[in-house]
Amino acid sequence: MALRIAVIGAAGYVGGELLRLLLEHPEVASVIATSRSKAGEPVAEVHPQLGTLTDVRFSGLSPAEAAHDADVVFLALEHGESSKVAGEIFAAGSALVIDLAADFRVRDLELYARFYGRHPAPELVPRFTYALADVLGTELKGATALAAPGCFATAAELALYPLRGVGAGLLPALFGVTGSSGSGVHPKATTHHPARANNLFAYSVLAHRHEAEILERWRGWTGSPTARARLMTHSGPFVRGIHLTLHADLEPARAAGATVDVKALFRAAYAGRPFVRLLDQPPELTHVTGTNYALIHAAQSADGREAQVMVVVDNLVKGAGGQAIQAMNLALGLPEASGLRFGGIFP
Ligand SMILES: NC(=O)c1ccc[n+]([C@@H]2O[C@H](COP(=O)([O-])OP(=O)(O)OC[C@H]3O[C@@H](n4cnc5c(N)ncnc54)[C@H](OP(=O)(O)O)[C@@H]3O)[C@@H](O)[C@H]2O)c1
Repeated sequence: MALRIAVIGAAGYVGGELLRLLLEHPEVASVIATSRSKAGEPVAEVHPQLGTLTDVRFSGLSPAEAAHDADVVFLALEHGESSKVAGEIFAAGSALVIDLAADFRVRDLELYARFYGRHPAPELVPRFTYALADVLGTELKGATALAAPGCFATAAELALYPLRGVGAGLLPALFGVTGSSGSGVHPKATTHHPARANNLFAYSVLAHRHEAEILERWRGWTGSPTARARLMTHSGPFVRGIHLTLHADLEPARAAGATVDVKALFRAAYAGRPFVRLLDQPPELTHVTGTNYALIHAAQSADGREAQVMVVVDNLVKGAGGQAIQAMNLALGLPEASGLRFGGIFP
């Protein structure tokens, strides 16, 4: 297809991961990588792991200038920045815009405001399709603007989606642990090695921002505008990946007369989906590191009353760049797995 790509914000962790995958993508002919602070510097100086793939330098073009000659534009910017530039990028006329920040993930502006404050560009929100690629598949074909899901949200929603028919009364508990790369390239007190290594702690208690997009999906899937779900986020002593466990009491559904076979629901939801693998035992984080796969184990208690689902994803691949490229493939009608079918690194 000879796609011309622009990655805006390419000096960050998500930008670097997009470059790693796009530089090897068989349908990509060229990649512009922009950065404000690193313009003119070799990409390989900021992302040494890409030195074997490219000798290009970061471009100092503005987002609109970079978009002008691009078929696909990826925005890998800090929260709030995409809202400032999306309008001019649309005006530049690229075929497809994919935002990896949270700016355009939530349609319900009141729900958005509860977690992020007033939306700075509400008129642009309806242009974006929420791109949970493993669930939407070919429904994404023809989309022109995609909001890539958050990393925790991706794991949580893959655990929730098969349970959507069981009922809105479940109040699923979603316990997640993330690695330090989830916080981006700029060092913070909570990502500093002595604070992070050998440590585990909760954060954003009862208020993690990804709950906004999770609630919007869960309410849409269950058909109940008051359905609830709770995300409990933790920082773990590793760099990459998210391990998430869903626990749900199935009694409300059983009391209403439903028969619930958790394993069968997961098999049906992900039959034929190339990047979701259902395992017979709990998945391990290192088995998915560096890949676009989600590994899932869905279990049910012996008395049938409780569901427990474990999901592992790489936050920078399935939780960011990989899923965004999967969504690009689907939107453009390319083979879904193009450029994404590779294994992980273990040990
Ligand atoms: N890290 C994850 O696991 C993850 C997963 C899913 C989604 N996300 C989301 O993806 C986005 C990027 O995350 P990240 O972890 O990569 O953050 P990051 O490491 O802080 O990188 C953000 C980059 O954006 C660049 N930037 C900001 N404004 C720019 C502009 N106008 N033009 C060009 N570059 C600009 C910054 O570089 P310069 O200052 O040099 O321009 C910075 O390198 C965030 O919204 C985040 O929430 C992150």
